[in-house]
Amino acid sequence: MAASLGQAVRHHWNLREDIVFLNHGSYGATPEPVLAEQRRWRDRMESNPVNFMKRVLPDALESAKARLAAFLGAGPADLAFVDNATSGVNTVLRSLDFQPGDEILINSHTYNAVKQTCLHIAARSGAVLVEADIPYPLSGPQPIVEAITARLSARTRLVILDHITSPTATIMPLAPLIAAAKAAGALVLVDGAHAPGMLPLDLPAIGADYYTGNCHKWLCAPKGCAFLWVDPARQDGIHPLTISHYYGKGFSEEFAWTGTRDASAWLAVTAALDFLDALGGLETVTAYTHRLARDAAAMLADAWGTEIGCPPAMRGTMACIRLPDRYAEPAMTSQMVMDRLWQEYRIEIPVLRFAGQAWARISAAPYNEMAEYTVLKEAIGKW
Ligand SMILES: Cc1ncc(COP(=O)(O)O)c(C=O)c1O
Repeated sequence: MAASLGQAVRHHWNLREDIVFLNHGSYGATPEPVLAEQRRWRDRMESNPVNFMKRVLPDALESAKARLAAFLGAGPADLAFVDNATSGVNTVLRSLDFQPGDEILINSHTYNAVKQTCLHIAARSGAVLVEADIPYPLSGPQPIVEAITARLSARTRLVILDHITSPTATIMPLAPLIAAAKAAGALVLVDGAHAPGMLPLDLPAIGADYYTGNCHKWLCAPKGCAFLWVDPARQDGIHPLTISHYYGKGFSEEFAWTGTRDASAWLAVTAALDFLDALGGLETVTAYTHRLARDAAAMLADAWGTEIGCPPAMRGTMACIRLPDRYAEPAMTSQMVMDRLWQEYRIEIPVLRFAGQAWARISAAPYNEMAEYTVLKEAIGKW
């Protein structure tokens, strides 16, 4: 129930009591029951590593994957565990065979690690990186659709779309973008790093060729728990970043063993899904977190006399609020602002420059509540 979230559930997380933690978005935060389950898997592994790897792990991994797949509306055979969304993106980009002149289309809100991966691929293959410039702040989804579709061409081989953008906390209008990319003959990779646990997902219905997402952010799984989904028609030729024994045996098998590793973060995804259920399920939790993010953003923009980066319908559990103009002066770097918020107020929040302005990106997790954003409001107001 929404009324029982916030402070009432914070004790499940090992977060320091004296901090105002408004940055769930960067790395997530894992509650103790999920960490306890991860420890149980590790203990089981170390009680007999051979037995674990040979006789326990294959089935355990399959059943964890099946549970996650059901949550994502996907077939288990189309899903592979990976370490994080960066690895998911790398897996696709490094599996595709780009030819000189092929275009990879990203945009000005693309996550920097993804852009760097594209630059690496372009340097090796002769492919060309094309970056659509999306204006910001946004009054609606249309400027995104226009900016990206304007850069599609007959050479576009792959379009990379964030489901929710990192620097600007914007839910992208995937449906028209994917339709346009497909009409242009391009493949589509969706970077859904923030989506699982923030939005309900039905992966096949999205219509992308590839979709990667993190479970360690909004699903609160242990760090290192992420997935890559690939349309069955595109699975040939997609290989894990580390090739191992099962090379050539098909998508599912190749990803199930990439060498000896600690798989406890993946196995504990079931505990993360149980924990979400115990909080009331995705709908209840996101009703609380989306509303908290919306209300907090409105309160902050009002207090600072500024604006929110995009309309409520384009936001989930995060929001970017413009800081007052003095924060955009060259002498006031984002790092200085973040350091001061941390040192003086114990507030953890990303502050970033985008489109010439300074923005604070708030997160609303199940353990957050309104009073914490008031601390931020006052801290910013004081300087
Ligand atoms: C849009 C987007 N893509 C990729 C990532 C990378 O996630 P990870 O560090 O878990 O690979 C992030 C992280 O915040 C992100 O916001």
